[in-house]
Amino acid sequence: MSGLIPESFIEELLGRVDIVEVIERHVPLKRAGREFQACCPFHEEKTPSFTVSPQKQFYHCFGCGAHGSAIGFMMNYEGLEFPDAIEELARRAGLKVPREAGSAPRRSTETYDILEAAAKYYVECLKNHPPAIEYLKGRGLSGEIAKEFGIGYAPAGWDGLLKKLGTSPENIAQLKRGGMLSEGKSGQYDKFRNRIMFPIHDRRGRVIAFGGRALDDDGPKYLNSPETELFHKGRELYGLYLARRKQGRMDRILVTEGYTDVVALAQFGMRNTVATLGTATTSDQAELLFRAADEVVFCFDGDNAGRKAAWRALENTLPLLKEGRQARFLFLPEGEDPDTMVRSAGIEAFEELVQNAQPLSAFFFDHFAGQVDMESIDGRARLVELARPELAKIPEGVFREMMFEQLEKLARHRVETAAPPPTEAPRRPRPSAQPGHKRTPMRLALAHLVQRPALAELVDEKRFKQNGLPGVDILLELVEFCRQRPHMTTAQLLELWRENAAQAHLQTLATWALPGDEEKQAGEFADALTSLELAWLDENLGQMPRISEQNAEQRAQFIALQQERERLKAILSGRVTRNH
Ligand code: UTP
Ligand code: MN
Repeated sequence: MSGLIPESFIEELLGRVDIVEVIERHVPLKRAGREFQACCPFHEEKTPSFTVSPQKQFYHCFGCGAHGSAIGFMMNYEGLEFPDAIEELARRAGLKVPREAGSAPRRSTETYDILEAAAKYYVECLKNHPPAIEYLKGRGLSGEIAKEFGIGYAPAGWDGLLKKLGTSPENIAQLKRGGMLSEGKSGQYDKFRNRIMFPIHDRRGRVIAFGGRALDDDGPKYLNSPETELFHKGRELYGLYLARRKQGRMDRILVTEGYTDVVALAQFGMRNTVATLGTATTSDQAELLFRAADEVVFCFDGDNAGRKAAWRALENTLPLLKEGRQARFLFLPEGEDPDTMVRSAGIEAFEELVQNAQPLSAFFFDHFAGQVDMESIDGRARLVELARPELAKIPEGVFREMMFEQLEKLARHRVETAAPPPTEAPRRPRPSAQPGHKRTPMRLALAHLVQRPALAELVDEKRFKQNGLPGVDILLELVEFCRQRPHMTTAQLLELWRENAAQAHLQTLATWALPGDEEKQAGEFADALTSLELAWLDENLGQMPRISEQNAEQRAQFIALQQERERLKAILSGRVTRNH
């Protein structure tokens, strides 16, 4: 749905929210001069290098390079997609997000509302149904944890929910859209009956689906909501919202297979657990996991099915293993899951298992070693054949190199490393991704302009119309853009340029430190512009024939250029004022 939110609204929204308030909800900020400071929430550190500028409405960490607007912060910290980050900020600011005409139908808030109401209804039903309470108690779950996870009970019978909430044709339609009804010959009826109900939340904490566990042997053990407008199984993780709300960014996140595993571990104090929803981990889910934590531990049953599922997870994880990220695999004894393990072995023992989980590299090579005969040449050749395309999925970096080295060791042969996949721009910049660009006049001019769009009024565009230096087109485009919105903040500018090819470059320039007061900065900006003119002049002078070969016309032009050059140099050295 991105791109369908009008730009004017993004501008308005960023004009309304204050990034300091947005970030302060999660990170305690301290004032430091014109800015605010904190220890960075995106990497480990003891001294604060995370700064928030109220003036630019932009945050930046000098340690790890993380930066962005309030929208960017919501995306990085809360793991939201662009449109969801906007929705969430708008909700907090009391604004409604308009959608451009002809766009995909907006996910209706009514469907969210009815699912929320359904969750409430199930919680009420649980209170009034002692056998269901007994069942949960029998599984060792406390009332407190059941409440926190919103666990409820869908009564037996066919129309409890339908009667309660399907009070109008409109509401019935919403129940249907939410996937809560089944269709029979004689009409619609409740999909979930006589089941313990686990609400599934999206990353903003809204109920989007349910998982229902049978209390008796009637039907499948678990019944899940079907795919709906709001619920795409492969893109959600059970428990992620609650885990993030409790912990924010985590060092490590544990991925289990079941609802009860997440709830049981939470009761034992392990809050960094989520569950895939009965499927192998998709690449969307892997992406979510690494946005939540740098280390992901996948936990599976040690049987064949578990190992298969683990391999699928591994395959979807490889392309995401940028520097600083790590994946591990924990295989439990056959027939055990985290829920049963933690109850029989205790939480300390379980935590130790998690800590000592097998690194991805070990699981990777074990997997192949089980398939080929490592003692024969043919077997080792086969190993290379099988492993190489998988390793090629890993982004360029030390980990990738070491995996290839290990493969060579095992194969006892040199392995040609296949070309790495094109890596997308990292979502969380690596520590080395510092804006270490050289400060050329072009970059300085752009940096000043991005950091204070009002400076555009100092630019005399005529002077650059003929200028063919690389980047001048972007400069002029930016100047024109800023002129129309001189009061725009850095954050607004960057969000409005999200689709522009130059945006990533401008983001980096927005993080440059430009010391001094406004006057000094304006002077530096003007100097950068003058330097650009000078550079173009020099380029033109360099193209002219030598003096001895110039005709009269060229000679006149040469002299004019020389004079202009002297004038510009005088301005730069401060001997002449600019507006001469
Ligand atoms: P399990 O069979 O391991 O169930 O399925 P569990 O979570 O341990 O449940 P308890 O402890 O017996 O109550 C793991 C996950 O697979 C999905 C569910 O998401 C479940 O949590 N599943 C399982 C289904 O969707 N349908 C089923 O019939 C079974
Ligand atoms: Mn279980």
